[in-house]
Amino acid sequence: MALPWDFRPIEGARVRLELLVPDDVDALYAIQSDPAVCEYLLYEPRSRERVAEVLARDAGATRLASPDDFVQPAIRDSTGRLIGTMYLKLASVDDKTAEIGWLLDPQFQGRGYAREAAALVLDLAFGELGLHRVYAELDPRNAASVALCERLGMRHEAHFREHMWFKGDWADTGIYAILEQEWAGGPA
Ligand SMILES: CC(C)(COP(=O)(O)OP(=O)(O)OC[C@H]1O[C@@H](n2cnc3c(N)ncnc32)[C@H](O)[C@@H]1OP(=O)(O)O)[C@@H](O)C(=O)NCCC(=O)NCCS
Repeated sequence: MALPWDFRPIEGARVRLELLVPDDVDALYAIQSDPAVCEYLLYEPRSRERVAEVLARDAGATRLASPDDFVQPAIRDSTGRLIGTMYLKLASVDDKTAEIGWLLDPQFQGRGYAREAAALVLDLAFGELGLHRVYAELDPRNAASVALCERLGMRHEAHFREHMWFKGDWADTGIYAILEQEWAGGPA
């Protein structure tokens, strides 16, 4: 496994993954303050101040070396505009496992950008990083996220019933995962 790994921009056909910069605060605030975007996220819609704090934390997360290290790059379109963020957290070094996550500006949903960005992250995870398994945790009611997992060829591995107290009610959690040899076969 190629650790430590220091973030470098990743270029796709239509999107580029780059570290967040302070100037992203307004675009990120527009996304993270939207109640529809946050419906199935662990956090409530964020204030601009909270977005600025989280952005500063995430912009400084540039190295994967130990469990819980993460990167949260911006997804930018060909104009350089921030259209969302990707997330990759090293869950275990010994088990070569990471968690993946995604967030897209509603104006840019429905065009395949999230799938392209996620595919870049899976290429990185199973290529350069040499990981063995990547998983996503989601609220099974989050149909767009479930569909994205399925488009990527991730398998539905688990469904925990009333697993967590979430925004005033019990909520289920779904786990989707993909192994290096499955990704080598390409997305579904
Ligand atoms: C989850 C999320 C990232 C999915 O975004 P998305 O836009 O549905 O996913 P993609 O960008 O891959 O786009 C897929 C759609 O674009 C369509 N599409 C259009 N042009 C396309 C192209 N050139 N290539 C691929 N797909 C294309 C696909 O057919 C698909 O449409 P469908 O949903 O009608 O089947 C988004 O809903 C989101 O940010 N939600 C809020 C945050 C959230 O819940 N995050 C996950 C927490 S677990």
